[in-house]
Amino acid sequence: MCSDVGEQKNMYLDQILADRRSYRMFRPEVPEEDDIRRILHAGLLAPYAAAAVGDSKDYFRRFFVMKKGSQSLNAAIPLVMEQVNVMAQGLNAEMEKNPPLRKKAVMFVQRLEMIRKAGRVPGVGNAPYYIVVAERKGFPPVEHQSLAHCLENMWLKATALELGFQLVSITSQMSGNVEFCKILGIPVGEWELMGCAVGYPADELSPSIRPPVEDVTRWLE
Ligand SMILES: Cc1cc2nc3c(=O)[nH]c(=O)nc-3n(C[C@H](O)[C@H](O)[C@H](O)COP(=O)(O)O)c2cc1C
Repeated sequence: MCSDVGEQKNMYLDQILADRRSYRMFRPEVPEEDDIRRILHAGLLAPYAAAAVGDSKDYFRRFFVMKKGSQSLNAAIPLVMEQVNVMAQGLNAEMEKNPPLRKKAVMFVQRLEMIRKAGRVPGVGNAPYYIVVAERKGFPPVEHQSLAHCLENMWLKATALELGFQLVSITSQMSGNVEFCKILGIPVGEWELMGCAVGYPADELSPSIRPPVEDVTRWLE
């Protein structure tokens, strides 16, 4: 049983969880820097793998905020696009050797092709902000899981601020890119990356639709 305050907290949380959607079209207005800071603070509150990075003296989570039209973002855009081409070529070569992969990867291949045709990576340059989050590599290597927690917190906070948010997962492929890491000012190879786009949504999306819990759950004896 929850107290009235507890009920209210749950009502707001449930609302934010249901309202969290992937927004892929943004209005040109730039959100307040303070709102972006609040989103980053939510990311800092996310769990991290203490045993993996715990004794690092240098803080293990970093944020890089690139604004539309900035020098940094203008330099990053072609590098990310180039990475899409490298990935598509690598995947095609892999599928030649491994036919079952072709079937498995069909949707992903289509998505890469769509990006190549459009000549731009969604979320990198079309939103007011492209934010890269870095997590220092530790042992065991659980940086991607840590980043996912961080990005989810940021996503929920952006939702509560009524901002649109889009994951830009190609960013994870940029962690070994010397030029990209130079833009961020981090040494290549020491950090894993993930990214997102943030701005005011251009359209309104309905709350998430998911199957009923009972349809996807087994209560085991
Ligand atoms: C690991 C992961 C990577 C994703 N990468 C991208 C991405 O690069 N671009 C994008 O637009 N959405 C990306 N998404 C968002 C999903 O496509 C989205 O969450 C899903 O379609 C459900 O829609 P919803 O977020 O509106 O509920 C990613 C989601 C996950 C969990």
